[in-house]
Amino acid sequence: MQSPIAVIGGAGRTGVLITRRLLEEGHQVRVISRDPHRGVLPSGVETHRADVRYADVLEPALRGVGGIVFAVEPGTADSGPQSPETTVYDGVRNVLAAADGNGPHFVLISQIFVTRREHPMNAYGRLLDWRLRGEDEVRASGLPYTVVRPSWLTDDEVAGARVRLEQQDRGNGWVSRRSVAEACVQALRLPTASGTTFEIYNEPGQAPTDWGPVFERLIPDRVPAYLRASSLTGA
Ligand SMILES: NC(=O)c1ccc[n+]([C@@H]2O[C@H](COP(=O)([O-])OP(=O)(O)OC[C@H]3O[C@@H](n4cnc5c(N)ncnc54)[C@H](OP(=O)(O)O)[C@@H]3O)[C@@H](O)[C@H]2O)c1
Repeated sequence: MQSPIAVIGGAGRTGVLITRRLLEEGHQVRVISRDPHRGVLPSGVETHRADVRYADVLEPALRGVGGIVFAVEPGTADSGPQSPETTVYDGVRNVLAAADGNGPHFVLISQIFVTRREHPMNAYGRLLDWRLRGEDEVRASGLPYTVVRPSWLTDDEVAGARVRLEQQDRGNGWVSRRSVAEACVQALRLPTASGTTFEIYNEPGQAPTDWGPVFERLIPDRVPAYLRASSLTGA
């Protein structure tokens, strides 16, 4: 029997779409949420109450999983529990530390602009800096991983349903939560997405039916030696 996939933030707007698609694909899904009974989750999911800011609760929640999707909203405070440092940097480190022994594929939802420090979004708790550092932790972890950087999220396919991936973080645009969710699910499935970081946009056209060609052109990350050497987690 396949190991379950943990979706952290699996009760959120993108998270619940990921959860549904994983169930459709026949996976066991473990939704990790600070309050799993607050919203309506699809039937058949296992739930775990856990908060990425508290390392001790993550280890039992992640025990035995074969994949992890991290779909956590970062907050915008400069410091304290609602700051990006705490949620998408410490939070990622905590999850990596809790998951390490299992070797699961880690899919991190990040965002566009993370390499553009001058962008106004960085004024909110240094959101972009901490997101990038969280990404670096994942790239340095030694786990199989995919970093998905959505552009501005929409509930409808306002920009179209076709998917365009980029890898330079120079663009701007829109992407539906549905496309992001599908990218996460397919990244867990297709080896060509492993070891890559990409931005995701929608454009006019049809949604992909086969993600093989979508991922095929991705260039695998070159993780700098200084990141690989220290495996930043715990440094
Ligand atoms: N909005 C945009 O335009 C945009 C653009 C690019 C990227 N993104 C990113 O894409 C991802 C999905 O976005 P979304 O709008 O679909 O998310 P969302 O509906 O806001 O859901 C995010 C989830 O994060 C979880 N969460 C927050 N703090 C947590 C913590 N400390 N521990 C565990 N879980 C925590 C919440 O789960 P519980 O409340 O159940 O614990 C929530 O369901 C997020 O990372 C977001 O920042 C957004």
